[in-house]
Amino acid sequence: MAQPRMLILGAPGAGKGTQSAKITDEFDIDHVTTGDALRANKEMDISEMDTEYDTPREYMDQGELVPDEVVNAIVDEALSQADGFVLDGYPRNLEQADELEDMTDLDLALYLDVSEEELVHRLTGRRLDPETGDIYHVEYNPPEDPEVEDRLEQREDDTEETVKERLRVFRENTEPVIDHYEDEGSLERVDGEQAPEDVWEDVKKTIENTD
Ligand code: AP5
Repeated sequence: MAQPRMLILGAPGAGKGTQSAKITDEFDIDHVTTGDALRANKEMDISEMDTEYDTPREYMDQGELVPDEVVNAIVDEALSQADGFVLDGYPRNLEQADELEDMTDLDLALYLDVSEEELVHRLTGRRLDPETGDIYHVEYNPPEDPEVEDRLEQREDDTEETVKERLRVFRENTEPVIDHYEDEGSLERVDGEQAPEDVWEDVKKTIENTD
Protein backbone atom coordinates (compact mmCIF):
# COMPACT_ATOMS: atom_id res chain seq x y z
CA MET A 1 0.00 0.00 0.00
CA ALA A 2 1.51 3.33 -1.07
CA GLN A 3 0.31 5.83 1.55
CA PRO A 4 -1.95 4.09 4.07
CA ARG A 5 -4.53 5.87 6.21
CA MET A 6 -4.41 3.77 9.33
CA LEU A 7 -4.92 3.51 13.09
CA ILE A 8 -2.50 1.94 15.52
CA LEU A 9 -4.39 0.72 18.58
CA GLY A 10 -3.11 -0.79 21.79
CA ALA A 11 -2.95 -0.34 25.54
CA PRO A 12 -0.57 2.19 27.10
CA GLY A 13 2.94 0.77 26.55
CA ALA A 14 1.95 -1.65 23.78
CA GLY A 15 4.57 -0.09 21.48
CA LYS A 16 2.40 2.26 19.41
CA GLY A 17 5.00 5.06 19.43
CA THR A 18 7.88 2.66 18.75
CA GLN A 19 6.16 1.05 15.74
CA SER A 20 4.67 4.34 14.44
CA ALA A 21 8.19 5.76 14.02
CA LYS A 22 9.07 2.83 11.74
CA ILE A 23 5.76 3.02 9.83
CA THR A 24 6.16 6.74 9.05
CA ASP A 25 9.73 6.19 7.78
CA GLU A 26 8.85 3.18 5.66
CA PHE A 27 5.62 4.48 4.11
CA ASP A 28 6.41 8.22 4.14
CA ILE A 29 3.22 9.23 5.98
CA ASP A 30 2.41 11.57 8.89
CA HIS A 31 2.45 10.41 12.52
CA VAL A 32 -0.59 11.96 14.15
CA THR A 33 -0.38 11.36 17.90
CA THR A 34 -2.83 12.86 20.35
CA GLY A 35 -0.54 12.07 23.31
CA ASP A 36 2.38 14.12 21.91
CA ALA A 37 0.05 16.93 20.75
CA LEU A 38 -1.48 17.14 24.24
CA ARG A 39 1.91 16.99 25.99
CA ALA A 40 3.03 19.94 23.81
CA ASN A 41 -0.11 21.85 24.89
CA LYS A 42 -0.46 20.70 28.50
CA GLU A 43 -1.09 24.19 29.83
CA MET A 44 -3.65 25.18 27.15
CA ASP A 45 -6.60 27.01 28.73
CA ILE A 46 -9.70 24.88 28.12
CA SER A 47 -11.84 26.47 30.85
CA GLU A 48 -14.30 27.90 28.31
CA MET A 49 -15.22 24.39 27.15
CA ASP A 50 -17.25 23.53 30.24
CA THR A 51 -14.72 20.90 31.33
CA GLU A 52 -13.99 19.62 34.85
CA TYR A 53 -10.39 20.95 34.83
CA ASP A 54 -8.87 24.02 33.19
CA THR A 55 -5.90 22.40 31.37
CA PRO A 56 -5.07 19.02 29.73
CA ARG A 57 -2.27 18.56 32.33
CA GLU A 58 -4.71 17.82 35.15
CA TYR A 59 -6.35 14.97 33.22
CA MET A 60 -3.06 13.52 31.94
CA ASP A 61 -1.26 13.56 35.31
CA GLN A 62 -4.07 11.42 36.74
CA GLY A 63 -4.16 9.05 33.76
CA GLU A 64 -7.68 10.20 32.77
CA LEU A 65 -8.86 10.98 29.25
CA VAL A 66 -8.75 14.62 28.14
CA PRO A 67 -12.29 15.72 27.08
CA ASP A 68 -13.36 14.64 23.58
CA GLU A 69 -13.98 18.19 22.39
CA VAL A 70 -10.28 19.09 22.85
CA VAL A 71 -8.92 15.91 21.28
CA ASN A 72 -11.37 15.79 18.36
CA ALA A 73 -10.30 19.30 17.30
CA ILE A 74 -6.59 18.31 17.34
CA VAL A 75 -7.21 15.23 15.18
CA ASP A 76 -9.54 16.97 12.74
CA GLU A 77 -6.94 19.68 12.09
CA ALA A 78 -4.03 17.21 11.71
CA LEU A 79 -5.89 14.84 9.37
CA SER A 80 -7.06 17.66 7.11
CA GLN A 81 -3.39 18.27 6.26
CA ALA A 82 -2.30 14.63 5.73
CA ASP A 83 -2.51 12.37 2.67
CA GLY A 84 -1.42 9.20 4.43
CA PHE A 85 -1.21 8.90 8.21
CA VAL A 86 -0.80 6.62 11.18
CA LEU A 87 -3.12 7.82 13.92
CA ASP A 88 -1.76 6.90 17.37
CA GLY A 89 -3.75 7.35 20.60
CA TYR A 90 -7.13 8.03 18.97
CA PRO A 91 -9.93 6.98 19.05
CA ARG A 92 -9.93 6.09 22.74
CA ASN A 93 -13.67 5.72 23.24
CA LEU A 94 -16.71 4.97 21.07
CA GLU A 95 -17.70 8.66 20.84
CA GLN A 96 -14.27 9.47 19.33
CA ALA A 97 -14.62 6.50 16.94
CA ASP A 98 -17.95 7.96 15.74
CA GLU A 99 -16.37 11.37 15.30
CA LEU A 100 -13.49 9.88 13.30
CA GLU A 101 -15.93 8.25 10.88
CA ASP A 102 -17.12 11.74 9.90
CA MET A 103 -13.54 12.97 9.40
CA THR A 104 -11.95 10.33 7.13
CA ASP A 105 -11.98 6.83 5.64
CA LEU A 106 -9.52 4.23 6.94
CA ASP A 107 -7.61 1.46 5.18
CA LEU A 108 -6.73 -0.42 8.33
CA ALA A 109 -6.95 -0.55 12.14
CA LEU A 110 -3.94 -2.37 13.54
CA TYR A 111 -3.99 -3.64 17.13
CA LEU A 112 -0.83 -4.44 19.12
CA ASP A 113 -1.72 -7.17 21.59
CA VAL A 114 0.36 -7.20 24.83
CA SER A 115 -0.35 -8.68 28.29
CA GLU A 116 -0.94 -6.34 31.24
CA GLU A 117 2.07 -7.55 33.27
CA GLU A 118 4.40 -6.72 30.37
CA LEU A 119 2.75 -3.28 29.88
CA VAL A 120 3.51 -2.19 33.46
CA HIS A 121 7.14 -3.30 33.09
CA ARG A 122 7.53 -1.45 29.77
CA LEU A 123 6.01 1.81 30.98
CA THR A 124 7.82 2.08 34.31
CA GLY A 125 11.14 1.38 32.48
CA ARG A 126 10.53 3.73 29.54
CA ARG A 127 12.87 6.71 29.08
CA LEU A 128 12.73 9.45 26.43
CA ASP A 129 15.45 11.51 24.77
CA PRO A 130 14.23 15.14 25.07
CA GLU A 131 16.48 16.22 22.18
CA THR A 132 15.40 13.68 19.53
CA GLY A 133 12.12 12.28 20.91
CA ASP A 134 13.57 8.74 20.60
CA ILE A 135 12.02 6.11 22.88
CA TYR A 136 14.25 3.86 25.03
CA HIS A 137 13.81 1.29 27.81
CA VAL A 138 16.22 0.86 30.72
CA GLU A 139 16.35 -2.89 30.16
CA TYR A 140 14.98 -3.73 26.68
CA ASN A 141 16.46 -0.88 24.69
CA PRO A 142 19.09 1.23 26.52
CA PRO A 143 21.01 3.81 24.45
CA GLU A 144 24.58 2.92 23.45
CA ASP A 145 25.89 6.50 23.75
CA PRO A 146 26.53 7.47 27.44
CA GLU A 147 25.86 11.13 26.56
CA VAL A 148 22.34 10.18 25.44
CA GLU A 149 21.89 8.02 28.55
CA ASP A 150 22.71 11.00 30.80
CA ARG A 151 20.01 13.20 29.32
CA LEU A 152 17.14 10.64 29.28
CA GLU A 153 13.92 11.61 31.04
CA GLN A 154 10.95 9.69 32.43
CA ARG A 155 7.45 10.71 31.36
CA GLU A 156 5.42 12.24 34.20
CA ASP A 157 2.59 9.72 33.79
CA ASP A 158 4.88 6.65 33.83
CA THR A 159 4.76 6.17 37.62
CA GLU A 160 3.33 2.84 38.77
CA GLU A 161 0.20 4.42 40.26
CA THR A 162 -0.69 6.45 37.14
CA VAL A 163 0.13 3.51 34.85
CA LYS A 164 -2.43 1.37 36.73
CA GLU A 165 -5.08 4.07 36.28
CA ARG A 166 -4.24 4.43 32.55
CA LEU A 167 -4.70 0.67 32.12
CA ARG A 168 -8.05 0.82 33.92
CA VAL A 169 -9.17 3.68 31.67
CA PHE A 170 -8.03 1.65 28.64
CA ARG A 171 -10.04 -1.41 29.68
CA GLU A 172 -13.15 0.64 30.35
CA ASN A 173 -13.08 3.03 27.37
CA THR A 174 -10.81 1.72 24.63
CA GLU A 175 -11.41 -2.04 24.63
CA PRO A 176 -14.95 -1.41 23.26
CA VAL A 177 -13.31 0.54 20.39
CA ILE A 178 -11.20 -2.51 19.53
CA ASP A 179 -14.32 -4.69 19.58
CA HIS A 180 -16.02 -2.14 17.31
CA TYR A 181 -13.33 -2.39 14.60
CA GLU A 182 -13.25 -6.18 15.02
CA ASP A 183 -17.04 -6.39 14.48
CA GLU A 184 -16.69 -4.12 11.46
CA GLY A 185 -14.04 -6.47 9.99
CA SER A 186 -11.27 -3.86 9.67
CA LEU A 187 -9.12 -4.92 12.66
CA GLU A 188 -5.76 -6.66 12.17
CA ARG A 189 -4.08 -8.08 15.30
CA VAL A 190 -0.32 -8.27 15.73
CA ASP A 191 1.43 -10.02 18.62
CA GLY A 192 3.06 -7.00 20.28
CA GLU A 193 4.82 -9.07 22.92
CA GLN A 194 7.61 -10.18 20.58
CA ALA A 195 10.95 -8.34 20.27
CA PRO A 196 10.55 -4.91 18.59
CA GLU A 197 12.14 -6.09 15.27
CA ASP A 198 9.77 -9.08 15.10
CA VAL A 199 6.76 -6.88 15.86
CA TRP A 200 7.92 -4.57 13.07
CA GLU A 201 8.22 -7.44 10.60
CA ASP A 202 4.59 -8.43 11.29
CA VAL A 203 3.36 -4.80 11.23
CA LYS A 204 5.04 -4.14 7.87
CA LYS A 205 3.68 -7.34 6.32
CA THR A 206 0.17 -6.57 7.58
CA ILE A 207 0.20 -3.08 6.05
CA GLU A 208 1.64 -4.32 2.75
CA ASN A 209 -1.01 -7.05 2.53
CA THR A 210 -3.91 -4.61 3.04
CA ASP A 211 -5.80 -3.84 -0.19
P1 AP5 B 1 -0.45 8.63 24.99
O1 AP5 B 1 0.76 9.45 24.86
O2 AP5 B 1 -1.23 8.26 23.77
O3 AP5 B 1 -0.03 7.36 25.82
P2 AP5 B 1 -0.51 5.84 25.79
O4 AP5 B 1 -1.61 5.44 24.89
O5 AP5 B 1 -0.74 5.59 27.23
O6 AP5 B 1 0.65 5.11 25.14
P3 AP5 B 1 2.15 5.27 25.41
O7 AP5 B 1 2.73 6.41 24.64
O8 AP5 B 1 2.37 5.31 26.90
O9 AP5 B 1 2.71 3.87 24.92
P4 AP5 B 1 3.06 3.33 23.47
O10 AP5 B 1 2.06 2.27 23.10
O11 AP5 B 1 3.28 4.42 22.49
O12 AP5 B 1 4.43 2.58 23.82
P5 AP5 B 1 5.96 2.92 23.44
O13 AP5 B 1 6.21 2.67 21.99
O14 AP5 B 1 6.39 4.24 24.00
O15 AP5 B 1 -1.49 9.33 25.99
C1 AP5 B 1 -1.10 9.93 27.20
C2 AP5 B 1 -2.29 10.65 27.83
O16 AP5 B 1 -2.80 11.67 26.95
C3 AP5 B 1 -3.52 9.78 28.15
O17 AP5 B 1 -3.39 9.13 29.38
C4 AP5 B 1 -4.64 10.84 28.11
O18 AP5 B 1 -4.67 11.59 29.30
C5 AP5 B 1 -4.22 11.76 26.98
N1 AP5 B 1 -4.78 11.37 25.67
C6 AP5 B 1 -4.07 10.94 24.57
N2 AP5 B 1 -4.90 10.65 23.55
C7 AP5 B 1 -6.16 10.91 24.01
C8 AP5 B 1 -7.46 10.79 23.43
N3 AP5 B 1 -7.65 10.32 22.18
N4 AP5 B 1 -8.54 11.13 24.17
C9 AP5 B 1 -8.39 11.60 25.42
N5 AP5 B 1 -7.18 11.72 26.05
C10 AP5 B 1 -6.10 11.38 25.35
O19 AP5 B 1 6.69 1.74 24.25
C11 AP5 B 1 6.65 1.69 25.68
C12 AP5 B 1 8.01 1.16 26.21
O20 AP5 B 1 8.18 -0.20 25.82
C13 AP5 B 1 9.24 1.91 25.67
O21 AP5 B 1 10.19 2.00 26.68
C14 AP5 B 1 9.75 1.01 24.51
O22 AP5 B 1 11.16 1.12 24.33
C15 AP5 B 1 9.36 -0.37 25.02
N6 AP5 B 1 8.97 -1.27 23.92
C16 AP5 B 1 8.22 -0.98 22.82
N7 AP5 B 1 8.04 -2.09 22.06
C17 AP5 B 1 8.67 -3.11 22.73
C18 AP5 B 1 8.83 -4.51 22.48
N8 AP5 B 1 8.30 -5.09 21.38
N9 AP5 B 1 9.54 -5.26 23.38
C19 AP5 B 1 10.09 -4.67 24.49
N10 AP5 B 1 9.97 -3.36 24.77
C20 AP5 B 1 9.27 -2.58 23.91
